[in-house]
Amino acid sequence: AGKKGTSSERTFIMIKPDGVTRGLVGDIISRFEKRGYKLVAIKSLVPSRQLAEQHYADLSTRPFFKGLVNYITSGKAPVVAMVWEGKDVIRQGRIMIGATNPLDAAPGTIRNTYSISIGRNIIHGSDSFDTAEQEIGLWFGKPGELASWEPANWNWIM
Ligand code: TYD
Repeated sequence: AGKKGTSSERTFIMIKPDGVTRGLVGDIISRFEKRGYKLVAIKSLVPSRQLAEQHYADLSTRPFFKGLVNYITSGKAPVVAMVWEGKDVIRQGRIMIGATNPLDAAPGTIRNTYSISIGRNIIHGSDSFDTAEQEIGLWFGKPGELASWEPANWNWIM
């Protein structure tokens, strides 16, 4: 997950199928871009059952686990998996996303703006540095999947 606490910190963000079917991909990407974060990986896919179960492994004993995995893997729509990079991006990403239950999410957050149901809360974001590291490895584990690049600026044209 890059280096913790530096401008190369990285987090894993996933737009869930409800966010995709509802046409929220552009707005969500835009929020992260405009905030100043850098997109270093993105792909759209219907996750396998194994991938979804691994991703949510810490919740495997919870009553909603099966429904959650079924939903993510249903194929009604893909998920959009991304890695975003920048200062404090793990914590800031969680703030931009809002509380797990959209009914508790602060106004203006992604979940508050677009949802009212905990089981259809649009988006996932890593909740700690260690989780980010694990999730990035799980979803973008192949060599070369993470890009390193500099945003365009005035230096570029001189
Ligand atoms: P969790 O990791 O606790 O929350 P977050 O996504 O904010 O990190 O839970 C993972 C997902 O599981 C959550 O986004 C929606 C679903 N979920 C439910 O459907 N019911 C629940 O009671 C909880 C806690 C989560």
